[in-house]
Amino acid sequence: MLDAPRVSIPSPSPPVPAAPAPAPLPAPQNGSGSAQAVLLRRGMELLNGTDPELALFLDREVERQAMTLAMVASASAAGPAVLAAGGAALSNVTAEGYPGARYHPGAERFDAVERLAVDRAKRAFGARYANVQPHSCSSANQAVLAALLPPGGVLLALDLDSGGHLTHGSAASVTGHHYRAVHYGLDDQGFIDYDQVAELALAHRPKVLIAGASAYPRILDFARFRAIADSVGAYLVADISHIAGLVASGEHPSPIDLAHVTTTSTYKQLGGPRGGLILIGEEHLTPGPDARRTPLSRLMQRAVFPQSQGTPSPASVAAKAHALKLVAEPAFGDTMRLVRADAAALSDALGEAGYRVLTGGTENHMVLLDMLDRGMTGVVAERALEECGILTNRNRIPKDTKAPLVASGLRLGTNVLAQRGMGPDQMRVCAALLHDVLSATTVLGDTEFRTDPVVRDRVTAEVAALCRTHPLPFGAGVGAADVSDREPGERS
Ligand SMILES: Cc1ncc(COP(=O)(O)O)c(C=O)c1O
Repeated sequence: MLDAPRVSIPSPSPPVPAAPAPAPLPAPQNGSGSAQAVLLRRGMELLNGTDPELALFLDREVERQAMTLAMVASASAAGPAVLAAGGAALSNVTAEGYPGARYHPGAERFDAVERLAVDRAKRAFGARYANVQPHSCSSANQAVLAALLPPGGVLLALDLDSGGHLTHGSAASVTGHHYRAVHYGLDDQGFIDYDQVAELALAHRPKVLIAGASAYPRILDFARFRAIADSVGAYLVADISHIAGLVASGEHPSPIDLAHVTTTSTYKQLGGPRGGLILIGEEHLTPGPDARRTPLSRLMQRAVFPQSQGTPSPASVAAKAHALKLVAEPAFGDTMRLVRADAAALSDALGEAGYRVLTGGTENHMVLLDMLDRGMTGVVAERALEECGILTNRNRIPKDTKAPLVASGLRLGTNVLAQRGMGPDQMRVCAALLHDVLSATTVLGDTEFRTDPVVRDRVTAEVAALCRTHPLPFGAGVGAADVSDREPGERS
């Protein structure tokens, strides 16, 4: 038998002077005087007063975001209301389980918030089932795979170097250790080789086929993927992390009713907080692979909690709820149309300037460039541009011989530029700025370079001017004239 735990009674110590009692919060009202608004304001005042070191970093980051051209394809800007919801006192609720079936008390309000988020996720994507608790798309993917695949089971997915994601069975991810991953690739033009997908499916008979990518500028043919999955009795998992906004607004075909399960991040294209979603459409009652043939929706509930996560992050769920409300509004669709038009314009302009654009163009938000074709690595291009306030990221491309931290490609995306209200005309300006920087960069090695300081200073000033005329949905920190109270997607 175990010893009973011993309770140690602390010896009397000198009385500690009582901390001054905080002033009571004013009574809740609507609008900016609400209890939550007062709390957020007080929080910032306290942080500024008691931890100026940290507060300064946070302030500088607001300014940095306002004054840089974010062309990182996996980014969107969460607006102030989403950020505020993510900082809500709701965060203090500890509640494992799901609405109405929690393992802790005090979750009544969180239940209501989670139900709202689930309803909004279903409405935004036309889904029959939604789980809003995954802390990220990586954790969503791991939960989904664990529910659909036994250890050592076979999954078929896009190869990492061809644009796939780590969680799709890469050797660098636990998914590559827990399962036997087989990977398909691209054809000579850089398009997904569906014939190869079908051949590998027949040869390896995967239990899960994943359709989704981190670096693929073309439409994913979910119907074709589903036909291949059906030909071998596999579950089709669509990972729309990168293109969720385009899918929600009809700018990319939806996998919701074609895939058995769909996963996504909420921050890449949805203007939401860090986090993930699991969605199911018509297949929500389809039996899972377990002995009891549990319906997929129930299987996914368990896959997240208790199988792979503990407590959800309530304030993140609230922030997802608000982001998903915005996703369903017409302005979001306008932004997504602009995202695609911008990417096409950017791709055309860079192609005309002599860059090798992978697949010869784009059908989504992303443009992939072969930088080795210009005699420089992806990391040199990324860093030279960053010095001028233009954020892009290095990316491995098919048949890449460089290490992942060096890479031969550069990935660009137009989500944030479109949120700033920039259109195709501004994309031609952005392409010209990019070209100016890269043309003025002398390559000294795989990671070393030197950019002409005159060009660097000029482009930095032009980037700042462009940012001022096209402010983020929150432009705080760059002067009152630039502060905009628009939500992401709302354009004047
Ligand atoms: C296709 C795809 N799936 C999943 C993820 C992982 O997303 P998260 O950062 O939410 O874990 C990414 C992110 O890079 C991705 O591109």
